[in-house]
Amino acid sequence: MSFLDQIDNIKLPQHIAIIMDGNGRWAKQKGKLRVFGHQNGVKAVREALEGCVKANIKFLTLYAFSAENWNRPKLEVMALMELLVTSLKKEIKTFQENGVRLNVIGDISKLPSNAQKKLQETIEATKENTHCTLTLALSYSSRQEIVDAARNLAKQVKEGKLQAEDINDALFSANLYTQNLPDPDLLIRTSGELRISNFLLWQIAYSELCFLDKMWPEFTKEDLFKSIVDYQQRERRFGKTSEQL
Ligand code: FPP
Repeated sequence: MSFLDQIDNIKLPQHIAIIMDGNGRWAKQKGKLRVFGHQNGVKAVREALEGCVKANIKFLTLYAFSAENWNRPKLEVMALMELLVTSLKKEIKTFQENGVRLNVIGDISKLPSNAQKKLQETIEATKENTHCTLTLALSYSSRQEIVDAARNLAKQVKEGKLQAEDINDALFSANLYTQNLPDPDLLIRTSGELRISNFLLWQIAYSELCFLDKMWPEFTKEDLFKSIVDYQQRERRFGKTSEQL
């Protein structure tokens, strides 16, 4: 029986975020180059997206390339960028058929121009789709995102457009790259590492965390469904007591 059948459709997480980790180690275990891990990581991206479409998850956010990942060997960075472009070319049809809207967060201006162009084209082509929003975090740093928001608010205060006292949670959220997304309900990380690695630090304040002991290329729809079932068995209290819920 699939874990899909155990999902309670009334308590669905609206937004799932994933730290896709372990491509390199998975490849190494197989005696292959790291790039082989990333190529197989793309298959797992498809699994995650198909799973979200099947389970009716409205927002999926994937940590595809961190700001720190620019420090990796040049060849690996180039291979990842190339993989991004070829995957977008290949997957556009699936996006349209499944009503997937593409979105990006991060400093896209650092990406090679062909990748920027392909991203923009795909975002434009899928902007009317409403079934699921797939957000790719690319050249993304959560601390940078928070710094950018603080700068933006400070600028508005300096220009007299905003009072410092009026800055609150909601206004801060509205100045993040994720301004159009709800906060993640569930954050999944693969590879057994128990870290957040500068991903959505503000947004995961109340997210449930799920750490899986398998490498990203091995991730399947069933893993996604099982994580949703686990999430549904937890009690989200947002600081309240059980009795108050
Ligand atoms: C983490 O594994 C994975 C990445 C840094 C890149 C994720 C990219 C993909 C899955 C492919 C391209 C993405 C899209 C959206 C088409 P790692 O290399 O850090 O693994 P390690 O920790 O074992 O070294």
